Amino acid sequence: MNKKTVKDIDLKEKKVLVRCDFNVPMDENKNITDNTRIKAALPTINYLLENNCAIILCSHLGRPKGEIKPEFSLKPVAKELSRLLGKEVIMAEDVIGEDAQSKAKELKNGEILLLENVRFHKEEEKNDPEFSKKLAEFAQIFVNDAFGTAHRAHSSTTGVANYLPAVSGFLIEKELKFLGNAIENPERPFVAILGGAKVSDKIGVIDSLLDKVDTLMIGGGMAYTFFKAQGYEVGNSICEVDKLDLAKQAMEKAKAKGVKLLLPVDTKIGKEFKPDTESKTVPWTEIPEDWEGFDIGEKTIKMFEEELKTAKTVIWNGPLGLFEFDQFAIGTNSIAKALSEIDSTTIIGGGDSAAAVEKAGLADKMTHISTGGGASLEFLEGKKLPGIEALQDK
Ligand code: 3PG
Repeated sequence: MNKKTVKDIDLKEKKVLVRCDFNVPMDENKNITDNTRIKAALPTINYLLENNCAIILCSHLGRPKGEIKPEFSLKPVAKELSRLLGKEVIMAEDVIGEDAQSKAKELKNGEILLLENVRFHKEEEKNDPEFSKKLAEFAQIFVNDAFGTAHRAHSSTTGVANYLPAVSGFLIEKELKFLGNAIENPERPFVAILGGAKVSDKIGVIDSLLDKVDTLMIGGGMAYTFFKAQGYEVGNSICEVDKLDLAKQAMEKAKAKGVKLLLPVDTKIGKEFKPDTESKTVPWTEIPEDWEGFDIGEKTIKMFEEELKTAKTVIWNGPLGLFEFDQFAIGTNSIAKALSEIDSTTIIGGGDSAAAVEKAGLADKMTHISTGGGASLEFLEGKKLPGIEALQDK
């Protein structure tokens, strides 16, 4: 990475503003159901503590759309972070208001303050210069460690970098190392597995990966668009009829590039969209009119598993079926298990695939699980991430 990190700047005893991605899932009682993103911020926070910094953390949570909504408060995050660090995390009642300002001013070296949800201000997502300046006034140095939000050009991810020396934290450094190495210098065979519901979400990444991989496996809802593009009926399965040409172009590109494109050969279908619906497995060419495809079938799982055994680098983004319903989680879980058993670099794009690997209890068997869903996808597409571009060059 050609961007400065916390190691490239003297931050001893400085006041430091750190942008984290604490956008974590919570249940209806505001209990955090997955603290991965909070844990991922600890190495940078601990490093700043070792350097006796006064640490001001900020993040968004959800999409409150510029309004103060208590259900999007970061208070539960302060509590969890405090538990993980074994140290008090002072919570500000606002973002740039009186409470935040006085707490930031009084903050001593070695103390940690968490500002309220930056998205309580509509200026945040507009990357408003005045708002960015106000945030910057809290500190002497800006550290961005919010990889999950690095694809957003917002005040707290890019705007503040106009007013403060800006460097990355260890999480961003680590994410770029793993994702970047896989893309730039993969040990081959290099296999990508793409799932998820829509071709439209993934077409950029399909196109970019077809220039790089040896094999591309496609599953999940978007596989039905590829099937329809070849003239097969897909029943009630999710299908983007306006994206058939994109699917055809991807198939042609794979052929032209000599990339092995593996589409499912069978599918597990259900009568209705409910967990206990009647289900069966059929060849892809035989989906009945009023049934819906929800998972890859056993033959496809076998085919994907065999291919993975020869892989040296694997990137996976997007579940291969409706994994929220147990009977349609078999494809996703089997592939997670196959990845956990092979001797190769395994990289899991964030979002749903990361959640699936966590749910299967296989997270510690993967080389790297990205904390960025949208961000990792945009990175794999070859796009520049504004939150990283804004940092100082080495
Ligand atoms: C994410 O969860 O992908 C990030 O926190 C970004 O959230 P956003 O899509 O609401 O910008």
